[in-house]
Amino acid sequence: MSELKGTPHNSAVKGEIADIVLMPGDPLRAKLIADNYLENVVCYNTIRNIFGYTGEYKGKRISVQASGMGIPSMGIYSYELFNHYGVEKIIRIGSAGAISEELKLGDIVIASGVCTDSNYISQYRLPGLFTPSGDYEMIKTVTSVLDEQNVDYKVGTVFTSDVFYNESMSDLEDWKKMNVLCVEMESVSLYCNAIRAGKKALSMFTISDLPLEGVSMEADERRTSFTNMMEAALEAAIR
Ligand code: ADE
Repeated sequence: MSELKGTPHNSAVKGEIADIVLMPGDPLRAKLIADNYLENVVCYNTIRNIFGYTGEYKGKRISVQASGMGIPSMGIYSYELFNHYGVEKIIRIGSAGAISEELKLGDIVIASGVCTDSNYISQYRLPGLFTPSGDYEMIKTVTSVLDEQNVDYKVGTVFTSDVFYNESMSDLEDWKKMNVLCVEMESVSLYCNAIRAGKKALSMFTISDLPLEGVSMEADERRTSFTNMMEAALEAAIR
């Protein structure tokens, strides 16, 4: 990766990306946030349609960039943001499937810690098991924003899975016994990359489906139910 230019996956020039980046999985959600919430917006990346934008929210500079789906995709983009572009903080705003019976469609979950069936962590050659965790200051900030906005949430352990269409759906019942709240597919690489780079990250989710019951939100419902999470993340990003 050269000094001035971008990376194989991101055409942004150094300096074009803010210190804090919001990362939805879906590129169109990144565009929606840029179009509806940011001012003075510049689109810095369209490679693979993984849109990235920098703009201002309430006068403060922030970026919003898609992560794509899954651990490898989040691994690539967040690694480059932290290590090539000097980004300090990333807030993932995604969807997740409920594991805990206490969660219903539309609820918000914040990942204090992550467990996984992925091999991502093996690259660090650690002499035991590692527990990727979200940044405590960021958790405090986002939860105080949600409290002010009178929006309910749960904070706890989530499961980052390598598999969406899983032949062993009963695995989720085993994670449930360990009080794991929900399943998603990106946070383990985000948290590991942040910690390894000495940076900060936080993942938050809106529950979009109940995989153990075979229930899922309609596309329209997904769009509207994400609003609370998006607005809390934007507010937390500028504090
Ligand atoms: N993201 C949203 N719902 C999910 C599920 N059921 N499994 C994995 N990732 C998800």
